[in-house]
This record gives sequence, structure tokens and C-alpha cells, in this order.
Amino acid sequence: MSTVLLTGANRGLGLEFVRQYAADGWDVLATCRHPEKADALNRYAAEHPTVKVASLDVTESTSIEALAERWRDIPVDVLINNAGVLSGGASTGPATQTDPGQEWGGLDAEAWVRAFRANTVGPALVTEAFLPNVRKSQGRKIVMVSTSMSSLTRGQPGFIAYRSTKAALNMVMRTLAAEVTSEGLVVVSLHPGWVQTDMGGMEAELRPEESVRRLRRVIEGLTLADSGAFLDNQGGVMPW
Ligand SMILES: NC(=O)c1ccc[n+]([C@@H]2O[C@H](COP(=O)([O-])OP(=O)(O)OC[C@H]3O[C@@H](n4cnc5c(N)ncnc54)[C@H](OP(=O)(O)O)[C@@H]3O)[C@@H](O)[C@H]2O)c1
Repeated sequence: MSTVLLTGANRGLGLEFVRQYAADGWDVLATCRHPEKADALNRYAAEHPTVKVASLDVTESTSIEALAERWRDIPVDVLINNAGVLSGGASTGPATQTDPGQEWGGLDAEAWVRAFRANTVGPALVTEAFLPNVRKSQGRKIVMVSTSMSSLTRGQPGFIAYRSTKAALNMVMRTLAAEVTSEGLVVVSLHPGWVQTDMGGMEAELRPEESVRRLRRVIEGLTLADSGAFLDNQGGVMPW
């Protein structure tokens, strides 16, 4: 049986990844920062014994190291760095063009640094900690959940913290791919589309079910030739 490890598995795309991989017979290592409050995930896990829930805050090194130690013998076929924040500030919920601290004239340095820890440093540390698990597996795939909003080519206004921390995440992905592809590991960044979650808002184009269905198909089809790529939810190449 194959195993997937997810961050941010308690809601949004993360929870949908849990449902679809578990329904497909995978072992699912579903991590989130507050398992005691993760009602939907806990309910699902209670009915699906192949889903293990554990605490993991991607901004806390001790949390990452403790879990990697606990799970050190489990091969991880697919590691999905899904957890992310739109803003490192107080803002939660749907994206708006006036997200505080992310517009010229009102930049919030501390919020930006918090977003950097969650969106860039966190996935790097999680990947570093669980690399031995991925190396042990048959699947050998690492996914960074990125966004079209990180695209330097597109150069759109607003959401400076979000765009820049995800662009940096793509660089994390590239440097890792440059190191581990020769060992047979595939590392990619994926854009899920604009999806109806707390982050994407209800106006978004895609339901999480459809986005995750597409992303899983792309992940399934990844080969070594894809390592280092930034792809959309149909496997198309995204502009950097
Ligand atoms: N929705 C879209 O349209 C869209 C588009 C492009 C890319 N994305 C990317 O897709 C990924 C999932 O987003 P989503 O739409 O599902 O957003 P969401 O509904 O807001 O969920 C975000 C998830 O990340 C978790 N998270 C945040 N900070 C964390 C931390 N420090 N440690 C562990 N988990 C943390 C959240 O946990 P808590 O519940 O504890 O906050 C939550 O589970 C993100 O990386 C996002 O940037 C989304």
C-alpha cells in the first residue's frame, strides 16, 4: 500500500486530499497544527483506519523534528507540502484585494515574515525532516503546493507577501530538485487552480473535489523528467 503525508490536512485542499487518497486505499499521514480542533478530519479518520492524524505546525522546528522522529520508519511515497497562509497577519478567510499588510503603503513586516515561515521555510524544513522517509519509498515524490500568484512572468499587483513567499517556495523546490533528482526523487511545484476554500473564497472557479482530483492525476503521472517543474492542475507548464 502507498503512503501520502500531508500538511494542513484539517480543511480545504488538505482535507480533500485526505479523503481522496484514503478512498483510493492509501495510508494517509494527515498532519495539522491543532488536531484537537480538527473535527472534520477526526471524524473522517475515526471511520477510516488508514488515516493517521498527528500534530504538525510547519513553523515550529521542534514540532517537525518530533514527528519525523516518531514516523522515521514509515516510507512516504508522496509528501505534499500543502499548508499555507494567504497572509501572515490577522487576516483569515477569503482573499480580498485589500488584504492588510500586503499592499504598498501599508506593508506589515512582521506579518510578511510570518508568511515566509509558513509558506517557504516551513515546507523546506518539513521536506528536510521527511526526506529519509521519501528516499525509503517506491513513489519518491515531493510536491510543493504553490500558486499562479507566485508567477514573476505574470507580475500582478497586490498580495506581496503571498506572492513573494510562494515564488521563494518555487526556488526551494528548484534547489531541492537539483540535488535529489539524480537519486530518483521527483520534486515539483503545483498550482491547484482557484479553488473554493477558506483561502480561495466561494467565488472561486473550482470545487476542492475537482482540484484535488486533477492534482492527484498529475502527481500520479509524474516522472523524473518532470522534476524541477512548476505545473498546473492538468500537468501544463506554469510560467515562472
Ligand atoms: N484555494 C485556492 O484558490 C488556492 C490557490 C492556489 C494555491 N493554494 C494553496 O493551496 C494550499 C492549501 O490552501 P487552501 O485553499 O486549502 O487554504 P485553507 O483552506 O486556508 O487551508 C490552509 C491550511 O494550511 C494550514 N496551515 C496554515 N498555517 C499552518 C502552519 N503553520 N502549520 C500547519 N498548517 C498550517 C491551515 O491550518 P489551520 O486550520 O490550523 O489554520 C489549513 O489546514 C495553500 O498552500 C495555498 O497557498 C490555494
